[in-house]
Amino acid sequence: MTETAAQPVWLDQVYCEDALAGLARIADGSVDLILTDPPYNLGKDYGNGSDRQTLDDYLRWTEQWIDAALPKLKANGSLYVFTTWRNSPEVFVMLKQRMTMMNEIIWDRRVPSMGGSVRSFTSVHDTIGFFVKRKDYYFDLDAVRIAYDAATKKARSRSIFVGAKWLELGYNPKDLWSVSRLHKEHPERADHPTQKPLEIIERMVKASCPPGGVVLDLFMGSGTTALAALRCGRHFVGFELNRDYCAIIEQRLAAQHAAMSAPKETVLPAKPARRKPTARKTLAKKPVAVAKDVSI
Ligand SMILES: C[S@@+](CC[C@H](N)C(=O)[O-])C[C@H]1O[C@@H](n2cnc3c(N)ncnc32)[C@H](O)[C@@H]1O
Repeated sequence: MTETAAQPVWLDQVYCEDALAGLARIADGSVDLILTDPPYNLGKDYGNGSDRQTLDDYLRWTEQWIDAALPKLKANGSLYVFTTWRNSPEVFVMLKQRMTMMNEIIWDRRVPSMGGSVRSFTSVHDTIGFFVKRKDYYFDLDAVRIAYDAATKKARSRSIFVGAKWLELGYNPKDLWSVSRLHKEHPERADHPTQKPLEIIERMVKASCPPGGVVLDLFMGSGTTALAALRCGRHFVGFELNRDYCAIIEQRLAAQHAAMSAPKETVLPAKPARRKPTARKTLAKKPVAVAKDVSI
């Protein structure tokens, strides 16, 4: 494929390669949102040594990818980074030296109470930093408001609340996100040890990337960011080192493309009766369109 003015070759691609090398493919100032979930350096086995570095190496490497990625952002772009309380102070200081911090979001993984630590409090959350480059950053709160339930709406039925935008559109999700982690039986679950829920990633995409914009994830894992972008009508680009995970990404994207291109079941009007009345018919399913390639 050759690059055209309308669509760069790297758009909607996940490259199975080191993000630090691959970032050179992407034009500077071309990405609306960097949404990334790097290894936390907690010793997970991703089939590479990325989560088992000395602290010094890990922090040096973190600074390297931050400096390689930030030039890719548009001037009104944003960045979300997943991290853990163990490293968030250092990672946030690096980013605060380069950007403005808007939020620390706590993802409460809704871990059930089962034993756990006996010498400290059991950790049940991930820390997410939300950063922007400039004051006029893109942010669409209305796209991610949470609808009030009927009971709450009824309780706010006094005349002073009638027509209130916040009541009609729903409330700000705030900075504590309580979303269950993807346990083994979860229908969304792929074969990746630290897969993030679509619900969380889609909220970030909808709030911080305009429709048709571009989301960059340096560390795709099972491809949740790419999938969320596709489902939300945004473009994506990213990288993943592990070939097995690249295959999972390809499968997840192909399934999503197939679901999106499958015709919705259309009910035909009943044929006029001849001798016997005929039953209502449904259209046969068309063959599914071939999903877009993932570069691996
Ligand atoms: C925390 S996981 C990402 C999980 C992902 N958010 C998901 O929902 O599936 C981090 C991923 O980064 C990958 N990785 C580590 N170092 C990398 C590098 N230098 N370039 C690209 N990918 C890398 C690992 O193989 C791992 O799959």
